[in-house]
Amino acid sequence: MSTELAIETAGLVKVFGDNRAVDGVDLAVPTGTVYGVLGPNGAGKTTTVRMLATLLRPDGGAARVFGKDVVQDADAVRSRVSLTGQYASVDEDLTGAENLLLLGRLLGHSKTAARERAAQLLEGFGLSEAAGKQVKNYSGGMRRRIDIAASILNTPDVLFLDEPTTGLDPRSRNQVWDIVRAVVAHGTTVLLTTQYLDEADQLASRIAVIDHGKVIAEGTKGELKASVGSGTVHLRLRNADQRAEAQRVMAAALNATVQLDPDPVALTARVDGQSTGQDAADKAGRALAELARCGITVDNFSLGQPSLDEVFLALTDKKGVAA
Ligand SMILES: Nc1ncnc2c1ncn2[C@@H]1O[C@H](COP(=O)(O)OP(=O)(O)OP(=O)(O)O)[C@@H](O)[C@H]1O
Ligand SMILES: [Mg+2]
Repeated sequence: MSTELAIETAGLVKVFGDNRAVDGVDLAVPTGTVYGVLGPNGAGKTTTVRMLATLLRPDGGAARVFGKDVVQDADAVRSRVSLTGQYASVDEDLTGAENLLLLGRLLGHSKTAARERAAQLLEGFGLSEAAGKQVKNYSGGMRRRIDIAASILNTPDVLFLDEPTTGLDPRSRNQVWDIVRAVVAHGTTVLLTTQYLDEADQLASRIAVIDHGKVIAEGTKGELKASVGSGTVHLRLRNADQRAEAQRVMAAALNATVQLDPDPVALTARVDGQSTGQDAADKAGRALAELARCGITVDNFSLGQPSLDEVFLALTDKKGVAA
C-alpha cells in the first residue's frame, strides 16, 4: 500500500453476528482533502470509521493510516487521528471551557497552554459567550461545535467526523461546514460521513457511496453524477391526467427510467449513462416531439446534470418505471 494516501483500506470487513456490517470496503483517501462517505442508516459508516480510528478491530481486510496498520500499529495511528463521533463524548455536566481545559490537560498541555488553546477554540467556534455554561444546556449546534473543538485540541493529521451536522438547522450546518473548511486549510485530512448529499457536495472532493457495508460507487462529484446519467430531464405537464401516458412515452423515447415526482404534474427521467451531452440533448428533443405528437401538453421542460440526491437514489434504490 502507498503512504501518499492518508487512509487506505483493502477488503475491510466487520461482522456482528450474522450481519456483515462492513463487507469488503476499499477506500483511498488522498492527504489534505475532505473525503465523503455517504450512505443511508445502517450502511456501515460508523463501523468503518471506528475501525479506522482503532476503536474497533476489523474481522478481515486491512486498513492503514499514513501507511500504519490500524491493528499492528494502532498506537502510531492513534497519535495522528481524532474522532468526532455521532454520539460524542464531552462531559455534559462541565462547561464548554472546562471540557476543553480538562481535555487539553489530559493531552499533556500545561495549564496556561491548555487555557490559551481553549479560549482560541471557543472564540473560533463562536462559543465564547457559552463558555461558562454547562454543555447539557447547549443547543444541538453548539453541542456539535464543542464536540469538534474537543477533537481538534491537538491538530490531528486525520479527523474523522461522523455525521457532524445531522439534526442541525441550516445556520448551524453552515457554521460546521466553515469549521471543516478551516480545519482542512490547516492541512488536516478529513473523512466525513454523512447522509446529506448537499453536505458531500459542499465539502468533499471525492465521495464513496456505501450501502449494506459495500462501496457501491466512488469518485469525484462529477464522476458520480456522470455515472448515473449524463442528463436528467425534468418535466411538468399542464394536466395531471396525462402523466401516466407521458411516463410511458418518455420511457420509450429516452430508453430510461421515468420517475413520478410528488408533484402530480411532474416527472423526472435520467438519460442513459453512456450518452454524451449532445446525445442526451438529442434524446430529450425526440422525447419532447413524441409527447407533442401524442397530444400531451408540456408546461415546463429542463435538461440538466443530475443532483447528487438523484445520484444517491439511483444508486441505493432502483424504484421507478423501467423502459
Ligand atoms: N456494536 C454493534 N453490535 C451489533 N451490531 C452493530 C453494532 N454496531 C453496528 N451494528 C450494525 O451494523 C450495521 C452498520 O451500522 P453503522 O452504525 O456502521 O451504520 P451507519 O452507516 O453509521 O448508520 P447511521 O447513518 O444510522 O449512523 C447496522 O446493521 C447496525 O445495526
Ligand atoms: Mg452512524
